[in-house]
Amino acid sequence: MKAEILKIMRESEDYVSGQDLCNRLGVSRTAVWKVIHQLKEEGYQIEAVRNKGYYIMDSPDVMTGQEVKSLLTTGWAGKEIVYYDEIDSTNMRLKVLAEEGRAHGTLVIADKQTKGKGRRGRNWQSEAGRNIYMSLLLRPDLMPDNAPMLTLVMAHSAVLAIRAQTGLPALIKWPNDIVVHGKKVCGILTEMSAEVDYIHHVVVGAGFNVNEESFCEELKDTATSLRIESGQIFKRAELIALILAQFEQDYERFMLQQNLSELMEQYNELLVNRDQTVKIIEPSGGYEAVALGINETGELLVTREDGTVQSVFAGEVSVRGVYGYV
Ligand code: BTN
Repeated sequence: MKAEILKIMRESEDYVSGQDLCNRLGVSRTAVWKVIHQLKEEGYQIEAVRNKGYYIMDSPDVMTGQEVKSLLTTGWAGKEIVYYDEIDSTNMRLKVLAEEGRAHGTLVIADKQTKGKGRRGRNWQSEAGRNIYMSLLLRPDLMPDNAPMLTLVMAHSAVLAIRAQTGLPALIKWPNDIVVHGKKVCGILTEMSAEVDYIHHVVVGAGFNVNEESFCEELKDTATSLRIESGQIFKRAELIALILAQFEQDYERFMLQQNLSELMEQYNELLVNRDQTVKIIEPSGGYEAVALGINETGELLVTREDGTVQSVFAGEVSVRGVYGYV
């Protein structure tokens, strides 16, 4: 009921009367009053005026299920939200929930992770109170070989949501990092449980450096936050709601063809290394090539020095700028 009351107050440009809330939710005046009281205790600034009702003036920067739900515009993405103040890893937690049968679209959010996982076995710095750590459960009717493309779908959604909320010129570093002014603000880790020809579930985890003020020595040359780049503090729940709305649309376009053909053009327009020379680093060595953009299965097409065009598969290589990370 808290999420519904928040949503009604947010959608109204004027005061909402207590009676109106009672009628719309089918509850008593006392029940409404209690919820308003609890919301105020949680840090919501709600003005109550006799004979007019309630008006929401400001919300705390929290990512609780009630706060995110009150901002959601989606059909299925985030319909179920499980929030933790602290958890080992939202991906690990969601995998357990998936095994227990949770629905497609379930979202796990944490304010802090104690064992945040990055790609290639790395850690993901996950301090409390400033960033977003979230994982979305998908149960796609898709061949397992096609599931890695979902990471690129999320990268596409994340970059657009970041642009919409912050106005920053965020770009994608293929396949799935989001960078602002050449440094990383978001990383995505997709994990799947599947048989040869059947996907049980896919967990798409994303970490966003939102209001982080500084990074350790090891990360400071390659990582940044939306706050550092813009000088502004952002409401994390608002960004989550934008990401989910964009992802729901992008996912549906992806599932139509079961490839990236519908998203490829825009993805390529937002590619940071497009038309630039990059270093392709393979386990067996490396070479320089010009990045052209992705194809419909998400491979990076590059032109090598001898003029041949080659497709690079994300699982096997990493791409760096000639002079550094981008
Ligand atoms: C990367 O290495 O770029 C991927 C980082 C992914 C981090 C996110 S934070 C939420 C989710 N839970 C995890 O343990 N990892 C992902």
